[in-house]
Amino acid sequence: MDLFRNPKNLGKMDDATVVAIAGNPACGDMITFYLKITDQQVIEKATFESYGCAANIATSSIVTEMIKGLTLEKAWNDITWKKVTEEIGGLPSVKFHCGVLAVGALKRAIRLYFTQKKIPKPAWLPEEHTFEEKQALEEEELAKTLSKKMKPEAEK
Ligand code: FES
Repeated sequence: MDLFRNPKNLGKMDDATVVAIAGNPACGDMITFYLKITDQQVIEKATFESYGCAANIATSSIVTEMIKGLTLEKAWNDITWKKVTEEIGGLPSVKFHCGVLAVGALKRAIRLYFTQKKIPKPAWLPEEHTFEEKQALEEEELAKTLSKKMKPEAEK
């Protein structure tokens, strides 16, 4: 609750190296991660914006704290939704997905770094999406389908 009321690293970063979004604005569960990454692939700064719930704000906030100073490789390997949930002192099971989405956004940002900079993917970065990335994609697909279904006939 403290991290929800006083989130750390909240806000847009103008000089971010990479910006990644996860979730869908249609249902309100949307996170943007901003990472400032050095040429040595160290995360110098991380901030976030969230339209998700309290658990999402708190988990996103703790992720930005946990990854500060880590290399991309270490952040990729060490940060999982389970670890984030532990770090925050636990979450009710219905709120697990909020932390999963936050980590999904982080993993997406790390992937984007290599694509945007056109740097060949390192060996530690798998082709296959992680659990968190898959969940984020699933949530986005679901939100898209639902918002299509909910549209009045004339707008379809
Ligand atoms: S982000 Fe959807 S309920 Fe928390």
